[in-house]
Amino acid sequence: MSQSDAAAVADEPLPHCPAFPFRRDDPLSPPAAYARAREAEPMLRVTLWNGSQAWLVTRHEHVRAILADDARFSGRFGQDGFPTVTEARVAVDRGERAFVGMDNPEHDRYRRMLTQEFSVPRMRALEPEIARLAESLIDGMIAAGPPQDLVQTLAVPFPSLVMSALFGSPYEDHRFIIDCAVARHGLTQSVDTANAKARELVDYVRRLIDAKAAAPGEDLLSRVLNAHVHPGRMTRDELAEIGAMILRAGHDTTTNLVAMGTLLLLRDDAQRARLAADPAGIPRAVEELLRLVSPVQFSPRRVARVDVEIGGVTVRAGDGLFLLLGSANRDAAVFPDPDGLDVGRDAARHLAFGFGIHQCLGQTLARIELRIVFETILRRLPALRLAVPADALRFKDDMQIYGVHALPVAW
Ligand code: HEM
Repeated sequence: MSQSDAAAVADEPLPHCPAFPFRRDDPLSPPAAYARAREAEPMLRVTLWNGSQAWLVTRHEHVRAILADDARFSGRFGQDGFPTVTEARVAVDRGERAFVGMDNPEHDRYRRMLTQEFSVPRMRALEPEIARLAESLIDGMIAAGPPQDLVQTLAVPFPSLVMSALFGSPYEDHRFIIDCAVARHGLTQSVDTANAKARELVDYVRRLIDAKAAAPGEDLLSRVLNAHVHPGRMTRDELAEIGAMILRAGHDTTTNLVAMGTLLLLRDDAQRARLAADPAGIPRAVEELLRLVSPVQFSPRRVARVDVEIGGVTVRAGDGLFLLLGSANRDAAVFPDPDGLDVGRDAARHLAFGFGIHQCLGQTLARIELRIVFETILRRLPALRLAVPADALRFKDDMQIYGVHALPVAW
């Protein structure tokens, strides 16, 4: 996959139907072409890897409106016109059996069986364990001494440990799970690898379910087995697909927010000091970091069911659309000075978790994880700094979930 240069020169007019995805000019901001599109051509027609075309939806108001409108826009994965950024993604979309790829009423039927597992009280009950995990990982960093790669020592293991507490799955399996998630989220993997890893993860969860059925525990799979599989509302196979979806969704996203959020704070001493002095401001800062990082780059996606007039164009029935969350979250109509980090800003209207029926099921958990991890970093590592020049960092231009590959730090 090659990334287009459409974004390279900030002041030039946008080319006609440029190739998508675009390259970033600044690793901490979305491609400059998004900002130009929001101004001049908010519904931008682009050409995809296979020569097909799709719309980029770049303004906050349109992204929100389309995601809220599941009567006129379908989110069913793999249907004709459903846009993709790679050939491998076509394959995994077609193979998706969990509700992330379904429309209503099917979507709601399955999602409702999971909502209690992600309810605020259930997630709050996990807080002490999440706090303990953050403390112990930072104990490990301190014991090993600087410099350390914050991605490998904290950002990767932290959400993995949380997911293994939630699922009651052996932590040793986390490398395998991350491998499967990365195989799906990469931009360069082969169709065969993407397919094989998607199936391996479902098979893994199926084995986990069998083990839970034989010896139930205090975990998500055991509870859903008991509440929905045993009474016949859901099959074991369906639960395996849903479990695999949740495992994939819960790792990479949080990992990249931890690493990129830390990097943004390290680049701004004044705002970091402000938060360290007033940890009560951290939940608000988490929203601002979610807004600025917006790690999910090329989802959600939709196909118009009927012709729709929006943003000065007619989207025809059958047209595919990318709802660009990272662009919506930099829309000056909603967020003044949108490219600036302001930990005191009210960023609650950001769309980093999506919107509408597919809005992130794990968002309460993600918010708790992020609040706890940033609070723990600021308290335990007050002198944290980058251990390499900022321009030596390598960013995830090769992934659909954006982040940084390594973040060497000292303290
Ligand atoms: C910073 C962390 C996270 C971000 C930025 C994030 C972002 C998103 C986004 C944008 C969507 C919508 C995708 C779409 O419509 O195509 C989504 C859906 C979803 N997320 Fe998250 N997520 C995060 C963490 C989590 C965690 C921790 C879990 C679970 C433990 C999770 C589980 C899910 C699930 C199951 C869906 C599908 C919901 C549905 O289709 O109804 N996410 N997430």
